[in-house]
Amino acid sequence: MTTPDGFGRSAGAGQLAAVPVGLASGPGPLPAALAHAGGAPRYWLPQQQQPAAAAPPATTPPAPTASTATAPTVTPPAAPPSAPPSGFDVEAVRRDFPQLHREVNGRPLVWLDNGATTLKPRQVVEAVAEHYAMETSNVHRGAHSLAKQATQVYEEGRQAAAELLGTPDQGEIVFVRGTTEAVNLVAQSWGRANLGVGDEILVSAAEHHSNLVPWQLIAEERRARIRPIPLLPDGQLDQDAYRDLLGSRTKMVALTHASNVLGTVPPVAEMTALAHRYGAKVLVDGAQAVAHFPVDVTALDADFYAFSGHKIFAPTGIGVLFGKRELLEAMPPWQGGGNMIDSVSFGETTYAPIPHRLEAGTGHIAGVAGLRAALQYLAGLDREAATAYEDQLTAYAMGALATVPGLQLIGNAPGKIGALTFLLVGTDPMAVAGALDQQGIAVRAGHHCAQPALAAFGLQAAVRASLALYNTVQDVDALVAALQAVQGAQGAQAR
Ligand SMILES: Cc1ncc(COP(=O)(O)O)c(C=O)c1O
Repeated sequence: MTTPDGFGRSAGAGQLAAVPVGLASGPGPLPAALAHAGGAPRYWLPQQQQPAAAAPPATTPPAPTASTATAPTVTPPAAPPSAPPSGFDVEAVRRDFPQLHREVNGRPLVWLDNGATTLKPRQVVEAVAEHYAMETSNVHRGAHSLAKQATQVYEEGRQAAAELLGTPDQGEIVFVRGTTEAVNLVAQSWGRANLGVGDEILVSAAEHHSNLVPWQLIAEERRARIRPIPLLPDGQLDQDAYRDLLGSRTKMVALTHASNVLGTVPPVAEMTALAHRYGAKVLVDGAQAVAHFPVDVTALDADFYAFSGHKIFAPTGIGVLFGKRELLEAMPPWQGGGNMIDSVSFGETTYAPIPHRLEAGTGHIAGVAGLRAALQYLAGLDREAATAYEDQLTAYAMGALATVPGLQLIGNAPGKIGALTFLLVGTDPMAVAGALDQQGIAVRAGHHCAQPALAAFGLQAAVRASLALYNTVQDVDALVAALQAVQGAQGAQAR
């Protein structure tokens, strides 16, 4: 199938306009799989009509000043080069993400809402389109060719997820809707079978609600107890408190691998080793981790690990739960239906082996095709170099944000990912996000589904700009300039 390098979209009435990326000579041919859909809107552009590479950064923001009393004391490092010799070429990556080349509110889109969801490379869009256009079939049943082909893609998606997470055993990969469903699965299946009166579940105060509320539900049912692992002022998990909380009653530790609000990356391997000393299991929420740095569940010795496809450049509605084989095999089904059985009668029903036993019903087949494409795409990048680039960009962004008067960054733990949550003194987070949106800059404002994490800092809401590997120094500079303008307007109003 042809794989043109970019695409644009024509705006209908009331829609946001797409950037006319080299459209002067008209759209090119559709990919082979869609060629029959000649009259339909055209999403693909010919290969040679790629958006021009952005110019290298012109300026480096000035160093933080004493006027930013509440800002973190970070010195802005040199801006990361766009094509470091290590092999990560951000401009080449950007060309694969069509949405990066559109406009919103008359401005080029600056996508800094990656914590909520990531954009999709054209390889993912094409894989999903190809599934629906030419390869639609159910999997695991039916004796025809397309069923076999869809099953192969589906199981290759499982293999790709196993490789991403560093397990050699595909049976340990359960497809779910996303991180939320993965945690609910473990809470409802493992939790119902293993938790009893007075047992304790340690949940870090940095967790997304999806790694807290499912535990609250099962704890209430089993009369178990949730105990929070507190935060330190910089957003790290308090390791002394954690050691004190662990005990013979601890049955589960629920830990984020990267906080969606604070950006904190806790020492998961060490915390897991400690939990195991007490016989407790550890579930790691990798929703914000997998797209930012390589993960190895074997090295972490995690019992369970969850992530969502849409936060790693894949479609929504598909995600992965990793579980150690012996744990998954001992877990009772949590949903019943097709796919998960061995034989069914009114007298007795027996179940399929893992992972299918935990995958009742028809899965999100197109989603897995997209996930497979996303993971193949990532595997084709130099991940170490991408992580190094993101780390540099995060440090640069923290330094640059510190130059905005009255900006207070929440979470300053060493080694944090680029989840940059902040307050602008005297402004409402929603109003700040609205003002940035007018400049084409997408950020998130609110409680970020992590109310306890914000409450630990005395907050109910904040603004969050979150970075991905396709963001650039120019994106950060645009954000900082827009925030400075918001502050300027605020100051003028006050006068
Ligand atoms: C750290 C973390 N965990 C879990 C989730 C929930 O992911 P999903 O809604 O895809 O299930 C999110 C989503 O923002 C998240 O950031």
